[in-house]
Amino acid sequence: MKFVELGKNKEKVSAIGLGTWQFGTKGWGYGKEFDKITAINITNLAIDNGVNLLDTAELYGDGISEKIVGEAIKDRRDEVFIATKVAPYNTGYRSLKKSCERSLNKLGIKTIDLYQIHWPNPLLSTRRTIKAMDELVDEGKIRYIGVSNFSIGRLKKAQELTKHEIVSNQVSYSLANLKVEEKLLPFSKESGVKIIAYSPLAQGLLTGKYTPETPLKTGGVRRINNLFRPRNLKKAMPLINKLKEVGEKYNRTAAQVSLNFLISDDSVIAIPGAKNETQLMSNIGAADFELERNDIDELRKVAEQFEPTKIGSLQWIAGIQS
Ligand SMILES: NC(=O)c1ccc[n+]([C@@H]2O[C@H](COP(=O)([O-])OP(=O)(O)OC[C@H]3O[C@@H](n4cnc5c(N)ncnc54)[C@H](OP(=O)(O)O)[C@@H]3O)[C@@H](O)[C@H]2O)c1
Repeated sequence: MKFVELGKNKEKVSAIGLGTWQFGTKGWGYGKEFDKITAINITNLAIDNGVNLLDTAELYGDGISEKIVGEAIKDRRDEVFIATKVAPYNTGYRSLKKSCERSLNKLGIKTIDLYQIHWPNPLLSTRRTIKAMDELVDEGKIRYIGVSNFSIGRLKKAQELTKHEIVSNQVSYSLANLKVEEKLLPFSKESGVKIIAYSPLAQGLLTGKYTPETPLKTGGVRRINNLFRPRNLKKAMPLINKLKEVGEKYNRTAAQVSLNFLISDDSVIAIPGAKNETQLMSNIGAADFELERNDIDELRKVAEQFEPTKIGSLQWIAGIQS
């Protein structure tokens, strides 16, 4: 496993983490709720194979994800780096402190390694939010402060306000969405704030299994993701074909090439979700090889040409998208 150094203490975090939004969530369309035993097995297998970063949130499955993660790691707390998130509506000074307590209880731990603000809340005072975060560090309830879905402007403000350090910004980043590369990633390199890439497989699109002929059927949270609409599945084919072509050269899958592209940059950590052990092991395998520079450049060139059409949900449901 490759490791990335987080913060001034150079905390070693696996470049491939495990995203756990799927745990305890019905919305991923896996029948009913994500089965707890599978989730616990996935988490343990991840740790057995070098993953130490586990990413959850109080919002995921309304707290069930945190509970499952807590149960999975109860006998191996020292082997993991636990990242969770406070929901945007709980970022008021008092609410944030209460949320932190709830998360500690659900996770069954004494200290959260990385506590992230899930989304900025423009209706609440950032000063008070950061003050609460700083106090949580001082009280030993959290070790590091992170943010998520923060623009450079908001990130800079948070940096000015904290007496500690903002170590990471968790944002959507994949070969299907390179927006981060315009400003956030360069800023991240400059300032040492690591990028934690969420939806690094574009929620499954970059695995190559969803095509116009084999579209996503389950719906759930992905029902509102433009990328899975027939017109965009078609537009994504040159990128998918390129991923497969590069994958053949390294004897890797499209998913592994997609993840390796992200973590080839030392400022980036990817946290793919997995619905079973096979997917997990494939995602971990993405850290075991190195794409050559010319392949990275070519992948970026093809990815930049992918411009998904934004289609309104009603249009899509009505079937007038193509
Ligand atoms: N901070 C935020 O606002 C935010 C937002 C979104 C996500 N996140 C975090 O980021 C994590 C990952 O993002 P994500 O779950 O949205 O998307 P993702 O990791 O890009 O995609 C996950 C999905 O892709 C499929 N998949 C994963 N590995 C695969 C493999 N090797 N082969 C084939 N299919 C594979 C699985 O679904 P199928 O098999 O059903 O296709 C899986 O549920 C989340 O779990 C969460 O922790 C954070």
